[in-house]
Amino acid sequence: MAFMGLIGCGNLGSAMLSRWVANGADPELIKVVDNHPERIRQLNFRPSALDELSGVDILVLAVKPWNIQGVLSQIKLDPETIVVSMAAGVNIAKLNKMLSEPHPICRVMPNIGVKLGMGVLAIAFNELAGSSHKKSVKEILEPLGTTIELKEKDFNAVTALAGSGPAFASLILESFVMGGIAGGLSYDISRKLAFETMQGTLELLKSGVDFDELRFLVSSPAGTTIAGLEVLESQGIRGSIIQSIKIASQRASELGVESDKVE
Ligand SMILES: NC(=O)c1ccc[n+]([C@@H]2O[C@H](COP(=O)([O-])OP(=O)(O)OC[C@H]3O[C@@H](n4cnc5c(N)ncnc54)[C@H](OP(=O)(O)O)[C@@H]3O)[C@@H](O)[C@H]2O)c1
Repeated sequence: MAFMGLIGCGNLGSAMLSRWVANGADPELIKVVDNHPERIRQLNFRPSALDELSGVDILVLAVKPWNIQGVLSQIKLDPETIVVSMAAGVNIAKLNKMLSEPHPICRVMPNIGVKLGMGVLAIAFNELAGSSHKKSVKEILEPLGTTIELKEKDFNAVTALAGSGPAFASLILESFVMGGIAGGLSYDISRKLAFETMQGTLELLKSGVDFDELRFLVSSPAGTTIAGLEVLESQGIRGSIIQSIKIASQRASELGVESDKVE
């Protein structure tokens, strides 16, 4: 593993650190800086100072977007150090401007699943990032979930689908639970059935069964499923979900523009 620095040990930073430790990372190879050293000690790491990060191969920024400029202005990095930013809405061009000299850069858009090592992480690199930089970044992101390299122009859609998606999916799943309760089942039974049903559906779809194939498979003539599907379609569930992702993507774009104004 590369020698790395992590700035920010809050929600995301501490989740990443825990995953790295769980995956057997050598704590001696990770220098962690945060305004709250107790957060670092809780994870059995020794808090470092910003000037201890100057020799790192990878610098991971897990601070809020408006703190990035401040931390970068206090470190003298080696030109070969790759700067990995987790900050939502801060694009590579803006990161480049905040650095005193050109660096390989990786922008990451992670989602909440990283806490369990089941996140989705969209990544984009600048032109200075070579294959060895990319390899070492992918290596450190691997314990956090699935990494997918994309063009930056797709990040707003990723933010909506994978970033906000867990909240949308949770609302849909909760509605299944409420439906079971409305049908007379207890909360516990409903929850268990809803989770197992979703899990089984997901596995079938992942195994290659098509979306419509699955619907026709469980829709018997004049049966229960087609009656329920008719309600969902007539209430416009597809349109609502598509619209919610579209609007979240637009909002991500607006927030990116707003963060550009914060100098
Ligand atoms: N949380 C998520 O699920 C998630 C998902 C996608 C992207 N992100 C991005 O990840 C970044 C971190 O988010 P977060 O939710 O983990 O934030 P957070 O919980 O606020 O953690 C950031 C930590 O960095 C510390 N910090 C700020 N400035 C510092 C400095 N100059 N030196 C040392 N430490 C400093 C903060 O201390 P103070 O509290 O004193 O400021 C805080 O402990 C953000 O840019 C966010 O856009 C987060």
